[in-house]
Amino acid sequence: MANIKDREFARHSRIMSVGVYRPKRVVPNSEIIAAIDSSDEWIKERSGIHSRRIAGDDESVISMSVAAAKSALERAGITAEQLGAVICATVTYPFQTPSAATDIALQLGAPKVPAFDISAACAGFCYGVGLASDMVRGASAEYVLLIGVEKLSDFTDPTDRGTAFIFADGAGAVIIGPSAEPGIGPTIWGSDATAREAIMMEPSWVDLRDPESLGWPDIKMQGQTVFRWAVYQMAPVALEALAAAGIAPEDLDAFIPHQANERIIDAMAKAMNLPERVAIARDIRTSGNTSAASIPLAMDALYQEGRIRSGDVALLIGFGAGLVYAAQVVQLP
Ligand code: UT7
Repeated sequence: MANIKDREFARHSRIMSVGVYRPKRVVPNSEIIAAIDSSDEWIKERSGIHSRRIAGDDESVISMSVAAAKSALERAGITAEQLGAVICATVTYPFQTPSAATDIALQLGAPKVPAFDISAACAGFCYGVGLASDMVRGASAEYVLLIGVEKLSDFTDPTDRGTAFIFADGAGAVIIGPSAEPGIGPTIWGSDATAREAIMMEPSWVDLRDPESLGWPDIKMQGQTVFRWAVYQMAPVALEALAAAGIAPEDLDAFIPHQANERIIDAMAKAMNLPERVAIARDIRTSGNTSAASIPLAMDALYQEGRIRSGDVALLIGFGAGLVYAAQVVQLP
């Protein structure tokens, strides 16, 4: 039997850089409340959100991604031609096909690179970190550009009390490459598909073909169901990711969870008994919930605030529609 030749595997992987794009327009709660009969106090108290960024017509899923990616490439010190793959995590690219990743690759000047999107909603970034890490370690790609991007304002009903104040727009990108030392711990991931209907974008495209259609596909969310699931089910997943990486809560420098609701962030930190010194990302206050983009945006915010530095050990966890989740411990770029 002939032997199959394989590539040399990289033993380990790491995040080499992060770059972000925040839309220009800042939208305070005061601009949202009239349409949903709410108040600034209620939104701050129930979600932690003070303001969010909403993309304009000139800020698309692609343009935001390209800006974030350029910054990540520059910070990693590599060019687009060196990329071995482009992965885009998003649920708001308004074309079913081709993928956002191929357009991003084209705009970056790398039209030949393997490129594809993943649909894992607010867990999309952490799903992507796990995938990209395995691709680097499995030698399918030396450098992977991973983008988490959303323009949720295109798919949110401004009159829906349960979603209009939460969802927002933005993009974050990382370069994942080979490493001499472990820079990304095992990904703990999974789903709870019995709760698929807790967050849905509907009606479907097929429904829209009907002239009597039910209207534009917006995100509908059973907020309390998702809230309870996140508060009770996600801390054990986060602890499992810590244990899998051999990291104790005391060893952590930062906790960068998906920015869904500040009360969920607080509840998880409490359930994990995180020491006071751990920097906890609270970018939700000024960015809202940007789904797949929220973790890289929150990571960038912690750097801007001077609360983390290169080499720090951080726990990432994403969770959302599916319901799906993924968590891993990483060394920060
Ligand atoms: O990113 C993907 C994952 N997503 C999440 O993790 C989101 C999880 N869910 C949440 O963050 C929360 O459920 C929300 C922030 C969406 C809602 O907060 P809540 O505390 O669960 O509100 P609720 O739906 O239980 O409503 C509480 C009260 C109700 O009034 P009564 O029945 O107590 O009198 C609602 O009618 O607040 C009322 N309410 C509002 N009041 C002002 C509901 N929405 C609003 C609103 N403004 N927008």
